[in-house]
Amino acid sequence: MARVLTGIQSSGRPHLGNLLGAIMPAIQLTENEGQESLLFIADLHSFTTIKDPAIRKENTKSIAAAWLACGLDTSKSIFYRQSKIPEVCELTWFLNCVTPYPMLANAHSFKDKAGRLSDVNAGLFDYPVLMAADIIMYDAEMVPVGKDQRQHVEMTRDIAKAFNHQFGEIFVIPEAKIDNQVMTIPGIDGQKMSKSYGNIIDVFLPEKKLKKNVMSIVTDSTPMEEPKNPDTCNVFNIFKTLANKDQISEMRSNYEGGNYGYGHAKTALFELMLDHFSEERKRFDHFMKNESVIEQHLQEGEEKARTIARDVMKRVKTTIGF
Ligand code: TYM
Repeated sequence: MARVLTGIQSSGRPHLGNLLGAIMPAIQLTENEGQESLLFIADLHSFTTIKDPAIRKENTKSIAAAWLACGLDTSKSIFYRQSKIPEVCELTWFLNCVTPYPMLANAHSFKDKAGRLSDVNAGLFDYPVLMAADIIMYDAEMVPVGKDQRQHVEMTRDIAKAFNHQFGEIFVIPEAKIDNQVMTIPGIDGQKMSKSYGNIIDVFLPEKKLKKNVMSIVTDSTPMEEPKNPDTCNVFNIFKTLANKDQISEMRSNYEGGNYGYGHAKTALFELMLDHFSEERKRFDHFMKNESVIEQHLQEGEEKARTIARDVMKRVKTTIGF
């Protein structure tokens, strides 16, 4: 049995990219393949950008509700908030001290912002090491993530190997698990869907707002009567991530046949979303209204996560002489 681990930052509401890139694959690995899993909310990571406590708390609640709504079963998975496991910060420090500066300077998460260095706080620079600690702390072997996190998992492997090289084989070397079918979900503007780009599709919005969200997907100005290229269209590319084969080929011929406008395509996508996520949307609303239930699930998971973390920290400290 491989130990699976993945986390979602609480830097905004959960979106379609989070669901398809990480939440659903991680839950499937637990449910279908019986893997042991640790699934968490990376609220310390979100502090690199979100400083308002009330906003961060609300985001944490909605990410937790999304995990539970998508089927996370707390009798099979350890479910927790990163910030409730203080050992992770302690491990980050030890890992920092074997991490070469150029590795961090090369991280996309930092390089994207390096043009505006005054906006980069030390937490953002060190972000990949905290992520490495998240993974290494629990001897995780498999890390289901979207493609954008591949580099971070590669760094985790390098940091774990550097530590092992210096102190003996104490850490497991994890592997990223990236679903090639899903890869990177585009946002409403065609760039990667991301909380920080403000281009997300929030599948848990109330129906009217979700419709507005889907209708705001950017398209070109090809008139309704003319045939359209589905492969260069955001609406089609998002539709493809949820639809079955028949639905995809029907949509493709609608595009290519003409007399099918982007408004029609967006309505079809909206309806597909309502259908595809109907149970999840109901459960999300239920959990959002019952914060104490979320809290109870998290506290149970936090106790279990902390027990593992304490043991691992003992092992680390004994090995490195503290
Ligand atoms: P975050 O919060 O940016 O994203 C959470 C997960 O969702 C995936 N994802 C996407 N997948 C496909 N298409 C998209 N457009 C898309 N946008 C986001 C991400 O790849 C990710 O899997 N650093 C991490 C959180 C983290 C973590 C960890 C993950 C902290 N510690 C340990 C795994 C293991 C992050 O910011 O993800």
